[in-house]
Amino acid sequence: MENTNQLNKEAWDAYQDEYFKFHLMARPDYFAFFSNGGVDWQGEEHMLDMIGNVKGLKLLDTCCACDAIQALSWHNSGAIVTACDITPKAIEIASANAAKMNVNIEFIVEDMQTLTSVGDNQFDIVFATYPVWIQDLNEACRNWHRVLKPGGKLLLNMDHPVLACIEADENGLIVSKDYNHPKAEREETFDGTGISERFGGWSVDLACVCNRYRISDILNAICGAGFIIHNTHESNTLCATEDVAEEVRNNIYLSKLPSGFTVLAYK
Ligand SMILES: C[S@@+](CC[C@H](N)C(=O)[O-])C[C@H]1O[C@@H](n2cnc3c(N)ncnc32)[C@H](O)[C@@H]1O
Repeated sequence: MENTNQLNKEAWDAYQDEYFKFHLMARPDYFAFFSNGGVDWQGEEHMLDMIGNVKGLKLLDTCCACDAIQALSWHNSGAIVTACDITPKAIEIASANAAKMNVNIEFIVEDMQTLTSVGDNQFDIVFATYPVWIQDLNEACRNWHRVLKPGGKLLLNMDHPVLACIEADENGLIVSKDYNHPKAEREETFDGTGISERFGGWSVDLACVCNRYRISDILNAICGAGFIIHNTHESNTLCATEDVAEEVRNNIYLSKLPSGFTVLAYK
């Protein structure tokens, strides 16, 4: 079977330089903001109530990207952060930025599904995002469980899978994908993220594969790896983030649906 994480790695690696430029356009004060202790939860502040005080706790961010906004926010909240991303370019940019800001985060190139170079029982918290980029979610959950200390916490925060099935147009919403039968979807041209759409678009002639999981798939993978689920949260933060197109942000139908899903589970 084709390793689609490796396929995605090439597409994402090609994007990271531009991706960081888009982040700088969105946040020209990026360096000053994070070096002065800023935090940006992109509308997902409920995560802090769920996880509690992270001061002095060892936290692994599973896919930090070049911007490392969440890794920096956890660091500025007092956690001791290790941040990984599958693309060397993301880690090169994030490490150089951290050095420039005199921020002490350990950045590593790793596939969040396998975490091959990460030892067992290392972390108090695994902060996981974007399961859409994980080919084998069961394996990923087993490895997140493995690298956590006994009693450690998994905080998984993701785009709500219902939202991925829906497209907005001027007349309302179209259900364009079957939530009940999720399958991996291959796109021949990788076209970046919401932030690139906002700044005029970007694409590269490299394929990528998005993996679709239902809420039940996510919860079953977490339980199957041996975690005990503590609580969950569904949010609608579309209006709180600027990284989506204005017509999406202001769409009254979308505002009635969840946009995010968070799970807290214990080892
Ligand atoms: C949308 S970005 C995350 C950005 C940032 N963490 C945030 O949420 O604001 C997704 C990142 O996941 C990385 N990625 C994709 N597949 C991965 C994998 N299997 N393991 C680790 N990182 C992966 C990509 O390289 C990309 O940098």
